[in-house]
Amino acid sequence: MSTTPAPGTTPLTELPAWKALEQHAVTLKSAHLRDLFAEDPERATRFSLEAEGLFFDYSKNRITSVTLALLLDLAEQSGLREHIDAMFRGDRINVTENRSVLHVALRAPKSQKIVVDGVDVVAQVHAVLEKMSEFSSRVRSGEWKGFTGKRVRNVINIGIGGSDLGPVMAYEALKHYSQRDLTFRFVSNVDGTDFAEAARDLDPAETLFIVASKTFTTLETMTNANSARAWVLDKLGDPKAIASHFVALSTNAAEVSKFGIDTANMFEFWDWVGGRYSMDSAIGLSTMIAIGPESFRAMLAGFHSIDEHFRNAPLAENLPVLMGLLTVWYSNFFGAQTMAILPYDQYLKRFPAYLQQLTMESNGKSTTVSGTHVKYETGPVYWGEPGTNGQHSFYQLIHQGTRLIPCDFLGFMRSLNPLGDHHDILTANLFAQAEALAFGKTTDEVIAQGTPDWLAPHKTFEGNRPSNMILAEQLTPEVLGKLIALYEHNVFTQGVIWQIDSFDQWGVELGKVLAMRIVPELKSASPLQHDSSTNALIERYRNQKV
Ligand code: F6P
Repeated sequence: MSTTPAPGTTPLTELPAWKALEQHAVTLKSAHLRDLFAEDPERATRFSLEAEGLFFDYSKNRITSVTLALLLDLAEQSGLREHIDAMFRGDRINVTENRSVLHVALRAPKSQKIVVDGVDVVAQVHAVLEKMSEFSSRVRSGEWKGFTGKRVRNVINIGIGGSDLGPVMAYEALKHYSQRDLTFRFVSNVDGTDFAEAARDLDPAETLFIVASKTFTTLETMTNANSARAWVLDKLGDPKAIASHFVALSTNAAEVSKFGIDTANMFEFWDWVGGRYSMDSAIGLSTMIAIGPESFRAMLAGFHSIDEHFRNAPLAENLPVLMGLLTVWYSNFFGAQTMAILPYDQYLKRFPAYLQQLTMESNGKSTTVSGTHVKYETGPVYWGEPGTNGQHSFYQLIHQGTRLIPCDFLGFMRSLNPLGDHHDILTANLFAQAEALAFGKTTDEVIAQGTPDWLAPHKTFEGNRPSNMILAEQLTPEVLGKLIALYEHNVFTQGVIWQIDSFDQWGVELGKVLAMRIVPELKSASPLQHDSSTNALIERYRNQKV
């Protein structure tokens, strides 16, 4: 089709495909999914595909074959293929931090080589995986003992952001496969309540703390880790107890030692693993202890299969690419501000929260890689809840509100807990919601069913509300790996089109710096030099705290 400019050199809005999409969107906005389906009996087949055991039906989107061709042109003109190759090669595509982005190496098979600065990172990954497997097996079997000789019965992961959301999501998602005689808790919030509630009914002599922090300097995590150490020492007395009750997951050996954890009990990862892309690195130690090394490796194999698909499948048949392009379509040409993630599986209850960090910390940017301010919308707000709970809460707005909210529905053919006809009812609701959103119910249909004229507008469903349907056979560790990789690469695709750095997170820095300035001010009576609002808030706290 059109010539491909070098990636990133032409502003997005000047690319021919962008301009063509602007024109095309004008006509497509008046098309209704009812008509698009009526005109094309093959639509469901045309706009669905299966890859690596995931079925993806994207026919209920406001697109035609022309839309798809233009979006794929946009991907080509944006140099998506070259960007994918650059990531897999280990190029420093995280330009603002001058780092490689190699979470794909975390799940590469042992036989693969990815060399960064002369070092084969895949070999490093497998060495850590071995160490994790050995440790996990010892905890699971009871061979790893606490200081008093009691076996470990409780595992508490202390971390925040990527060092918490992935582990807690994966634990919940894979609970079915977990060792049930071990208790897992996750402490992230610096609010003392989080630690107090997690620890209150546990015996320190039977508790293992996993301090998870890429930097090992994060204020929340270090505050919680220090409280955990005090809690253990309070009961066990001897500082030597720390070695049996604390392990660290980090890139920062110096800080780990400073905290008092033997670096022999540290599980390493590297600066080329972003926090929000780290749940399959050493950060996944709690997951491995819960589900066992074999299941953890099955999860990694799931990730890897989607990595290979993303790397090799033609763009038109590439699941994460299509998902990313559809998000661009709605964000930039339909004014959609948010994306709903709606898993029809209770085990995936933390999946939307996990995806919030993955998507919003990655693509919540307004400066392009070349340093200019974007002239278009970037990352949408991601949110969601498991079905069917959401149906009785916020779905009203998706069906009849004034905003366009594209939805990702996720479902499974078989339940892990078959119980009467629960799974049929759940799945019927999943399919029904996507159908209702797309096709709605006309005023004529409502009146034909005997509704009085005055009430008919209220009972009318406009429809034409887009959704994707992602189906897999059953929620297994492997399938979870596939689903996460799918969204990682979906986010990557969006970031390339928007010409932003999806791998930095400068936006979280300012708040951290200001908090560090305010902490001592809350403890003293020193004069304040903030704005009048912040000064008054600090004064109020000083006056009222006990
Ligand atoms: O919120 C910023 C952030 O740097 C996240 O990107 C990261 O996942 C989180 O803090 C935790 O960081 P660390 O693992 O270094 O404690």
